[in-house]
Amino acid sequence: MGPEHVGTELAEVLIDEPTLTGRIQQLANSLAADYEGERVLFVGVLKGAVMFMADLARAMPCSVEMDFMSVSSYGYGTQSSGVVRIMKDLDIPLEGRHVVLVEDIIDSGLTLSWLLRTLSARHPASLEVCALLRKREALQVELDIKYVGFDIPNAFVVGYGLDYAERFRNLSVIATLDPANATTAG
Ligand code: IMP
Repeated sequence: MGPEHVGTELAEVLIDEPTLTGRIQQLANSLAADYEGERVLFVGVLKGAVMFMADLARAMPCSVEMDFMSVSSYGYGTQSSGVVRIMKDLDIPLEGRHVVLVEDIIDSGLTLSWLLRTLSARHPASLEVCALLRKREALQVELDIKYVGFDIPNAFVVGYGLDYAERFRNLSVIATLDPANATTAG
């Protein structure tokens, strides 16, 4: 789904495809340098991180392992509930592993803060976060995030994995959405 859909429900393109691709390659290069000689496990949080995880993993010059988990955070609204529940857990044990938690977006940071506590309790050798987007103004908790793709304004965004009521995940760009103008049916 290309950016030609922007203009009706979608307000504007915030990050276009070449910019996404370029930044993801830079992140992959940093990760490859930092984890040289190590066995790295990418942990993706479904469903929003799927596109980012797939492209980041392919941009890595070395082999990485991948696993996914699913947690409930937003449901169908646009506000963080702060209530987090594991819907699908990881298949691979984290003990002794170098883990990179791959996240789509950090908004309040409540989901991530909960995830970090939960995954640390499994005794990985190391645990870092690689987030594609961060809403700096929205952060409600102090978090140490080593790898960030883009700091973005405090607006609701969709595309490249991110949804509004399950819509727009397959948009190839990151766009802002005005919930007042968007319907929940495609
Ligand atoms: P947090 O707990 O407020 O940091 O929210 C984290 C989760 O909320 C993300 O992993 C997304 O699934 C979702 N989310 C936060 N902001 C947005 C947005 O602007 N668009 C789409 N989903 C979002």
